[in-house]
Amino acid sequence: MQSDRVGQRLKDQVAVVAGGAGGIGCAIAARLVAEGAKLAVLDIDVGRMRSLTAAGMYGMEPLCLEVDITQAEQLEAAARQVGDRLRRIDVLVNSAGISGRPLGDGPVDVCPEDAWYQVINTNLTGVYLTCKYFIPLFNPAGGSIIHLASDDALIGPKPPHDTHAYCASKGGVIALTKAMAISYAPRRIRVNAIAPGWVMTPMTQDLTNDPAVWREIVERHPLGRAGTPEDIAAAAAYLAAPEASFVTGVVLPVEGGATVW
Ligand SMILES: NC(=O)c1ccc[n+]([C@@H]2O[C@H](COP(=O)([O-])OP(=O)(O)OC[C@H]3O[C@@H](n4cnc5c(N)ncnc54)[C@H](O)[C@@H]3O)[C@@H](O)[C@H]2O)c1
Repeated sequence: MQSDRVGQRLKDQVAVVAGGAGGIGCAIAARLVAEGAKLAVLDIDVGRMRSLTAAGMYGMEPLCLEVDITQAEQLEAAARQVGDRLRRIDVLVNSAGISGRPLGDGPVDVCPEDAWYQVINTNLTGVYLTCKYFIPLFNPAGGSIIHLASDDALIGPKPPHDTHAYCASKGGVIALTKAMAISYAPRRIRVNAIAPGWVMTPMTQDLTNDPAVWREIVERHPLGRAGTPEDIAAAAAYLAAPEASFVTGVVLPVEGGATVW
């Protein structure tokens, strides 16, 4: 029986967070643990998973698995380990992803082909593969899948951050969210996405390091600030919780109003 009380809403549930060593993924993982969930974290960055665990950032010692989400055999092995250790899952968060900026992503006539393939392969194909191998572990009673999209896929991104491979990957995630919501509704697996605005994390550090650039980015948000990982984690906690049991196929913008004006 699920509780509606904040802090116990995910009691006895099992959450898997892919990209759980990242800024947003770690905050979501910690919030789901605070809601009572047991946790498995998947990430390619095993060193960071270990240091976050050692620093107590997850609020518990999670099952940490080194996984590259673009590699099917690694996901298959990880799903087997999660099944052996935790038996079934109730929540799957797809927060692993990369920015195209360091790869030269930009408008299509600028974006190098290898950058295009790498971004699509990680941000979209990686989500497909993660779902493919973890959906069989879902509790027969149902559960919640949460994808991380981006507000860049809801409105055209402003130059010089018009990274088309990244936008296309997140647009694909939004389409996948809706398609999966329909297909898995009979199994009571709800599938939703969060579309963050700009959030201060390791992914955006190249921009936060430059005060003038970051100020201009902050000004794109009507609420006058950038997002925090905890803003995104609060939305994820809602989408995972019983309060959202009639919510599927939505893309929830958490972007300080950036897509409104
Ligand atoms: N930070 C933002 O402003 C922002 C805005 C909109 C959407 N997002 C999305 O939110 C999600 C989380 O972003 P973040 O800001 O926390 O970034 P981050 O870089 O802090 O975290 C991303 C995590 O994904 C992991 N990862 C990357 N490639 C992987 C792979 N092949 N296999 C396994 N793990 C892999 C990284 O090691 C890292 O821990 C991403 O999907 C990102 O696109 C972020």
